[in-house]
Order: sequence, then structure tokens, then C-alpha cells
Amino acid sequence: MDRIRLVGGNTLRGEIPISGAKNAALPLMIASLLTREPLVLENVPRLADVNQLEKILENHGVDIAVHGRKPIQLEGQRMTLEAAEIVDTTAPYELVSTMRASFWVIGPLLARAHEARVSLPGGCAIGTRPVDLFLDGLRQLGAEIEIDEGYAVARAPGGLRGGRVVFPKVTVGATHVVMMAATLAKGTTVIENAAMEPEVTDLAECLVKMGAKIDGIGTRTLTIEGVDELHGATHSVVPDRIETGTYAMAAAMTGGDVLLRDARAEHLRAALDVLARTGADVTEEASGVRIHRNGNGIQPVDVDTEPFPGFPTDLQAQFMALMTRSTGVSHIRETIFENRYMHVAELARFGADIKVDGQVATVTGVPQLKGAQVMATDLRASVSLVIAGLVASGETTVNRIYHLDRGFERLEDKLSAVGAEIERVTG
Ligand code: EPZ
Repeated sequence: MDRIRLVGGNTLRGEIPISGAKNAALPLMIASLLTREPLVLENVPRLADVNQLEKILENHGVDIAVHGRKPIQLEGQRMTLEAAEIVDTTAPYELVSTMRASFWVIGPLLARAHEARVSLPGGCAIGTRPVDLFLDGLRQLGAEIEIDEGYAVARAPGGLRGGRVVFPKVTVGATHVVMMAATLAKGTTVIENAAMEPEVTDLAECLVKMGAKIDGIGTRTLTIEGVDELHGATHSVVPDRIETGTYAMAAAMTGGDVLLRDARAEHLRAALDVLARTGADVTEEASGVRIHRNGNGIQPVDVDTEPFPGFPTDLQAQFMALMTRSTGVSHIRETIFENRYMHVAELARFGADIKVDGQVATVTGVPQLKGAQVMATDLRASVSLVIAGLVASGETTVNRIYHLDRGFERLEDKLSAVGAEIERVTG
């Protein structure tokens, strides 16, 4: 199994290109099921989750062509997805169980084929992550859904119809799904308390290019007027705000000066504000976001994770790694997922001082971390271990890095290009 080996102590200097966002690319690829015409996606990142979703979509009958699969390129790839016909409305356990987002095919399948049988999802080990809000939302659009032998079996005889969906809590996935389903429903759908994450906005903008009628994009209320058919379109995947925030924290951790090329500060305002309060200089430039920190200490800052535009849960582990080296005590409160502190025990192997009490982690900064053998437990947790390893004395080995490959494109190349001593050890 591949590992990452790194030796801490180098400051980072230079440019890191930011890839297309995994969490936008996945729903955009799924949106191809809504039309028989080709959907062309540009800036698609090369990630294990993208490859896995290709397999799932191909099983439904989507023809996928990927251009520019060259291994050493850092530019995103161009992908054409054509679902001329839906040949199978079942998404089987073997394909769906490793990635939660694959459950999202349920929306487009129901909307276009009026039926779907989708295995209940798996994904990262960060909490129970139920699908009740997806099912409630689709029922408001007229779907009949039952759970049978681990599958959600959904039907909409005669097609979906518009409805009013009020989410009791903000959910990115269910917003994607109900929005996609509503584009082909008869009549008007209103989604209240919709997620406003930039990935939801990116999907909405692509759907509009495909002929969907959506009002309120980027707000908590989406109004969707169903149309008979969607058509093909070309869309470029939004830059990855979580990758951006991750490298921003790495740069703040090591010191130095890094330009995150193509990063969009407006998608990461809360996290960049927090980084500035830790003492990093954050500058917005035409070509991206620059993070610079001199040799001064890292200030402790308290953070609560929140839905966008708040501080993202997907940066909580990385921020915790940064706080392990702060000059004081910080409190981190995880409000989105109930079990997203799996990295705490691994960070402790570096000598970090972290105590968890319910939702709150109290991190007392230590003057030095020591390199260690650690194990990745989920995608963002894994990368927090890399950030810690970048400043730890001596050598660190991060095991089980298949989690990293799900969501970070060429992480070791990007970090070594700016001066980190990091390599992938295969086998
Ligand atoms: C998306 O997951 C992201 N995944 C996650 O990123 C991210 O952490 C999360 O949004 C929050 O920002 C993708 O985009 C592929 P939710 P999603 O539905 O859609 C509860 C990463 O590392 N809930 O917004 O699954 C749920 O349990 C991943 O890239 C229900 O209770 O998250 C959670 O507590 C990890 N019932 C909260 O809502 C439901 O039916 C928010 O989850 C659905 C969700």
C-alpha cells in the first residue's frame, strides 16, 4: 500500500496550482444523467473519487471520454459525458458503497427515467450521515420511496411534479439532488434553507447552461421551474476551495510565501479571515491568493464549523493541525458531523496536546512536533497529518493514503514543488 514519507522543517515558497473542486465535479458529472446530449466538463481533477463515479455512471449508460489523461500534467482534464439512453436505473452496492456522493444519482434517475434503485451510501467514517432529507425532499416532488434490502427504491409514475421542500438543516447533498430532480419536474419547486456552498452554485450555473430555470442561485431559497428537457453544455469546474484552504494552512504552518494559483478568495472568506487572525498575511491577487507568514508565532484562534459562508467542516482537521503549534489555547467546535475527530489520536502521535469533550476540541499549542508513523482515517484527516508532518522534526510516514488520493490531486508533487521534502513510497 502506498505511503507518504516526509521530513519536516522546510518553509514553503512558490506557487501551487489549485485544481477543480472534487465536490463540484462529482455532482456536475451526475448532472449528465439529466440529458441525452453531451455535457462537457473542463478542469475536472484527477482523483480516485472521479474515477469511481465514472464507473457508476457508465453502468447507467453514460459514455465518458476523458481528454488529456497525461499523468504529469497539472491542468485539469476535459471530460465529455453523454447519457443518450439510461440503460440501467440500479446503482449497485458494489459501486456505491465506497462513496457517499454516488447516492446522488437518485435525483436525476428519478427525474429522467421516473425510477431509481440506489444502494444506501458509504463514504468517509465521519458520522452516521443518514439520507432521510434526500428521501423527504424527493417525496415532496411526488416520488414514492421505500427501503428494500439496503436499497432506496424510488418511483415517480408519470414523472416528478414541483413541490415545496423545506430542509430542517442545511444539507449540501440533498440540495444538489432535489435541485437536479426539480429541473425536469412538472411545475415549480421551491427549496427553502438550501445549501449555498460554492459547489451548489457551480452545479446550479451548469444546470442553467443546460436549459434549467433556476432563480435564487447562491441564496438560501432556490426556485426551480421544471422544463421538458435539458440539453448539452460546456462548463468548467470551480477551483477547489478546500484544496486552497488546505495549502493555505500548510503555508501558514511552515512559514514562507505561497501563491495559490486560481484560488477564489470569495469562496473561502471565513477560513482566510481565521488564517489572518493566526498571524498569516493573506493577499488577494489577480491570479489567486497569496499566503505569507514570517517567523512570528502562530496565534491561537477559536473556530466553529458551519455551513457556507461559515468556516467549512472540510478544513477543521487541517486547522487543528495548525493550532497544535500555536502559542496558546484554541477551541474548535465541530457542528456539522458528530464524529469528525478521528485525526485527534493521530495528531497526538506527533506530540500534539488535544482534548475532546463532545463537539469541542481544546488544542494547546506545543513548541515542537516530532515526526511519527501515522495512519489516515478519512480524506481531510489524512491531509491534516501531512500538515503536521511538514513542521515536525525528523521523518513522518503517513500510511493508508488511498484516502488522500480520493480528494487531493498530486499532493506530493504540489508540495515538493514549493520546497517540502515529501515523496510517495509505493508498495
Ligand atoms: C458534502 O457532504 C461534502 N461532500 C462533504 O465533504 C462536506 O463535509 C459536507 O457536504 C458538508 O459541507 C461532497 O460534496 C461530495 P451534508 P454531504 O448533507 O452532502 C446531515 C469531503 O471531505 N444529513 O451537507 O454528505 C449529515 O449527517 C466531504 O470532501 C442528514 O441528517 O453533507 C450532516 O450532519 C466529507 N440527513 C449534515 O446533514 C440527510 O439526509 C450536513 O451534511 C443528509 C444529511
